[in-house]
Amino acid sequence: MKVLVVGQGGREHALAWRLAQSPSVDRVFVAPGNAGMADVATCEPISSGDVPGLVDFAEREAMDLTVVGPEAPLVAGVADEFELRGLRVFGPTREGARIEGSKAWAKDLCERHGIPAPRSRLFTDVGQALAALEEFRPPYVVKADGLAAGKGVTVTEDRTEAERALRAALLERAFGDAGARVLLEEHVSGREVSALALTDGETVVPLALAQDYKRSLDGDAGPNTGGMGAYSPLPRVDEATRRVIREEILERAVAAMASEGIRYRGVLYAGLMLADDGPQVLEFNCRFGDPETQAILPRLRSDPAQALLACCDGSLAAPDLEWTEEACVSVVLASGGYPGDYATGLPISGLEEARPLREVFVFHAGTRARDGRVLTSGGRVLAVSALGASFAEARDRAYEACSRISFEGMHYRKDIAAGVEATADG
Ligand code: GLY
Repeated sequence: MKVLVVGQGGREHALAWRLAQSPSVDRVFVAPGNAGMADVATCEPISSGDVPGLVDFAEREAMDLTVVGPEAPLVAGVADEFELRGLRVFGPTREGARIEGSKAWAKDLCERHGIPAPRSRLFTDVGQALAALEEFRPPYVVKADGLAAGKGVTVTEDRTEAERALRAALLERAFGDAGARVLLEEHVSGREVSALALTDGETVVPLALAQDYKRSLDGDAGPNTGGMGAYSPLPRVDEATRRVIREEILERAVAAMASEGIRYRGVLYAGLMLADDGPQVLEFNCRFGDPETQAILPRLRSDPAQALLACCDGSLAAPDLEWTEEACVSVVLASGGYPGDYATGLPISGLEEARPLREVFVFHAGTRARDGRVLTSGGRVLAVSALGASFAEARDRAYEACSRISFEGMHYRKDIAAGVEATADG
């Protein structure tokens, strides 16, 4: 079959790479792709926001399956357009994508259906929001309702900073319409984990759990980013917690949407806090995680194309997917200054030196090719993933590859999966 992957980041490179290995896939296309994806797929210069362009291309090429990587086109209704033309698309329609496109909508869904999530209040009026800070204890959690390119969440001990975040969203419209409504949320402590599942709107098949590292610096210091690394599986999450995640969060959310007339097909990503009294949903996303996908897919033994196809066709069946016992560690190499301002167009060296390393996969995120060279083109530039019989082995392999790669200003965390000793089932 012919498969189109929409997007241009490390997540989409990992998807295209893994799909290209599927015995049922003859050819993979990516739109628009990046410098690294040309090794596994044909890159088409169609932006992921160009919905008519994507649909026309998929129709013209008689694509058997289109997998949408980023959230923005899903929230904008790309899956609806594919379905209108009778094309198979992996990703929810606009209605389902609201689970990520509106945090308030997702909160209400949780409340209506008993999905565990922290208490929150929604505001459109800045005066009321500022006054309501009194009801919340620090750290304050301020969230823009809509998509804000990963910048709409502030977590702070400092009330003045929380006030600034409320004013920025509601008065100054720093996030445009995405910040016209803002949630104040109760802070929950614990350990954050990413739980993703495939679904055809009825059956839910969890992927291996993953741990994301959101802060830019070692020891969880520095500002929030899109994710500086990840590992999978999570040996320290016990069976009872996994059951709650599966039954009370992932399955319940899909069933909740179905009961409200939304057939959610694609991947459902729950960003969770494992609190003392059980997992709590911090956010839902309507797409694969980045960089979680770069740590999850190298461990997948089952044929991903068949599983994604089954989601589209409404024929997803348990039993669960098969995973290798090996651990996977993924380290993001970022541009100097990221997540703030950074330069682009810098030459990357060492990619060839990293290539022969065993069980190492270098996924391109923000790269472009020019005159036979690979240049940086984004904040997160590469995700270097490695498998190993233990986390120590996977870490050593990933960091050996990182040490061979360089570009001016490159920075990365040195503590991804540090101290995670055992491997276990996903
Ligand atoms: N790594 C966080 C996300 O994909 O949303």
